[in-house]
Amino acid sequence: MSVGDDQPTALPVFADVDTGVDDAMALVYLLASADADLVGIGATGGNVDVDQVCRNNLGLLELCGAPEIPVSRGADQPLSAAMRTAEDTHGPAGLGYAELPLHHRELTSYDSAEAWVRAAHALPGELIGLVTGPMTNLALAVRDEPNLPSLLRRLVIMGGSFDYRGNTTPVAEWNISVDPEAAAEVFDAWGRAADADAIAPHQLPIVCGLNLTENIALTPKVLSRLATAADTATTAMSVLDARGTRSTADNHVIRALEDAMRFYFEFHFDQGEGYLAHLHDPLAAAVALDPGLIQTRATTVDVELTGTLTRGMTIADWSRRWGRESNAHVGVGVDPEAFFDRFIERVGPFARRLAHS
Ligand code: RIB
Ligand code: CA
Repeated sequence: MSVGDDQPTALPVFADVDTGVDDAMALVYLLASADADLVGIGATGGNVDVDQVCRNNLGLLELCGAPEIPVSRGADQPLSAAMRTAEDTHGPAGLGYAELPLHHRELTSYDSAEAWVRAAHALPGELIGLVTGPMTNLALAVRDEPNLPSLLRRLVIMGGSFDYRGNTTPVAEWNISVDPEAAAEVFDAWGRAADADAIAPHQLPIVCGLNLTENIALTPKVLSRLATAADTATTAMSVLDARGTRSTADNHVIRALEDAMRFYFEFHFDQGEGYLAHLHDPLAAAVALDPGLIQTRATTVDVELTGTLTRGMTIADWSRRWGRESNAHVGVGVDPEAFFDRFIERVGPFARRLAHS
């Protein structure tokens, strides 16, 4: 069924985020996508504390002129680990140098775990889940609704790192590292659902780890293509710019994204990775709408919880040594240009329309 002559049916997506810079880019991508219906946003502490994540989510909806999409406040602590945040990476407020507009939007009265369950019950078998932060809310939601794996049409996770380095410890990726117990509960829940034949193979989580997402290296040159697609003049960014130089883009959305990305560029440069930024979460959002964007391999994934040096590490049992059912589709290949083309062809015109609305 199509909603119009040539419009694809919009896919209902629930996004649980720890809005930070790349989470924000992922949310804008979903809002800009005609084939996405963002039905709810959950907030987990991560890049910044959960209340700042909530403020960022609400302010971003205002920036994008979005409808009243329910935004809920989720866990402010991991299931058992101590809370950690990453203001050094995403900025004191989580969006780099960007400033969001004032608004009167409010949070839902229920928390993010309940928001997951409400959305899944409202759209059984149709809802696409996307997690681009620690999986605390999702784990709590599965505790409340053990049938969640079979209620979701698809689950896409940005997290982990497979046969590849970590970005938080030598082997652990941030989202998993913040709450490894939650991640382990999520992979276990989907594994048990698969064992019980309660879900089809396509309902296993699609996991976008650093091995995949660090192929998506946004550069100032690519970012300038976004401004062009939005019909807005801007000043191309350079590592030679003074720190904190603000965007000159006329378009308010492009200006905010450029100011957010500059902080992220500076962080990656200081890490020795170049004046660029890995778009982890926007790739996961694009995969949530179109899994065909990446190549995956089905395997059994589990999370190290007790290792002194390896806690938070995600392990893929490619050789089937554990003798357990597959519980995930791990992303192993992507064409960065195809992703950037899709991101720009959606977000550019979206920003242009907003400037003229
Ligand atoms: O490791 C990258 C992930 O951690 C991204 O989701 C980023 O936003 C941070 O949450
Ligand atoms: Ca994130």
